[in-house]
Amino acid sequence: MDSDRRQFVQLSLLAGAGAGLASTAGAQAKTITKADRALKILVLGGTGLIGPPMVEYARARGHALTLFNRGKTNTHLFPLMEKLKGDRNDDLSSLEAEVTKGRRWDVVIDNTSSVPRWVTASAGLLKDSAETYLYTSSISAYAEFETIGADESAPTAALSPEEEAKVKTPKDITGENYGGLKARCEEEARKAFPGRCIVVRPGLIVGPGDYSDRFTYWPVRVAKGGEVMAPGNPDDPVQFVDCRDLGEWFIRLVEDKNYDTFNGVGPRSPMTIAGMLHGMRATIDNEISFTWVDADFLAEHEVQPWREMTVWVPPVGEEAGFSTASIEKAKAAGVTFRPLAESCRDILEWWYSDAVTEERRQNMVAGERSLMAREAAIIADWKAR
Ligand SMILES: NC(=O)c1ccc[n+]([C@@H]2O[C@H](COP(=O)([O-])OP(=O)(O)OC[C@H]3O[C@@H](n4cnc5c(N)ncnc54)[C@H](OP(=O)(O)O)[C@@H]3O)[C@@H](O)[C@H]2O)c1
Repeated sequence: MDSDRRQFVQLSLLAGAGAGLASTAGAQAKTITKADRALKILVLGGTGLIGPPMVEYARARGHALTLFNRGKTNTHLFPLMEKLKGDRNDDLSSLEAEVTKGRRWDVVIDNTSSVPRWVTASAGLLKDSAETYLYTSSISAYAEFETIGADESAPTAALSPEEEAKVKTPKDITGENYGGLKARCEEEARKAFPGRCIVVRPGLIVGPGDYSDRFTYWPVRVAKGGEVMAPGNPDDPVQFVDCRDLGEWFIRLVEDKNYDTFNGVGPRSPMTIAGMLHGMRATIDNEISFTWVDADFLAEHEVQPWREMTVWVPPVGEEAGFSTASIEKAKAAGVTFRPLAESCRDILEWWYSDAVTEERRQNMVAGERSLMAREAAIIADWKAR
């Protein structure tokens, strides 16, 4: 066992959280009542990050599920569930066969698409075979970065037909066109399911099973302890949403036929980067200190917000910027949030469990890979300035 993993196991045993290490991260005993009406739900996707807790919750609510995907991601999940194999890119034949047979679903949940023609094809195929379509968009669909998602009626990003035509598959998606593509996907979903479409625009989705490492970097870094480089102004806002809170809420939205567009961000009350880091620190007992390094100094040292100093994006001028999307409409529509401490503990349990390989732990894809090696030197430069 490597020293970080041993240290985490010892700390969590001290904190009484170690018992969960052998089980599925975060699988807390929670009573979920059955829904009033059992729904037939077709999930396009279902085995990535939001999918698994969403599917588990739907099953516990008594709904019957069908998953459509390529059978590549987390293939061990849901062995007894109905699965239709296909590819959103060029093979909907298994779905077409079901539609031809007269198969009907109450709900389609489309988690997979960021390519508009994928939505055109699947929503077009299913429009007379399902009542409700939930499309998973993104907070990136908003046009204005400075006031992103101040409310759901804010303008969305535009993409010319020429730019859209260049995007044949997900490989063609870039940071520049992603928002416009998500906005176009929303349009295609609403066009096929007018008045029967739910659109959720999540911000950063976090939790056990998130291999992007964007949020995971922070609990892992805080758990390692020592002198931690903290970015920007301690008051800079942050937003993120646990995949389990999001997935469970999707199911309540479709049960309620809550046909509308919602931001899907958290936490419940505004949080600062300092609040987040100290909240994580409170979940673990170790030797730790934070050294705050300001945004300009980080920029001079070519430390990128979001990609390296993950979660954090500095405010733009007078505007609060990226992490201030409104959550009011979502709260009114029944979103719930688990505490940061629970997300943090479950992520660490997952990260140091056998579900993650030692090689993967040594090679985080965000934050740590480039930063950990430089962190001490940047802190030293900051103190010597
Ligand atoms: N991660 C974030 O922070 C974030 C933030 C905002 C919005 N979003 C949005 O959230 C959505 C993704 O959520 P998720 O990954 O957690 O969803 P998910 O439903 O848990 O997983 C994605 C599913 O898509 C399937 N899939 C991938 N490529 C496919 C293809 N060509 N044809 C058929 N199925 C395919 C995968 O299975 P196979 O690989 O087996 O096919 C997998 O089951 C995306 O729309 C993304 O834009 C994410």
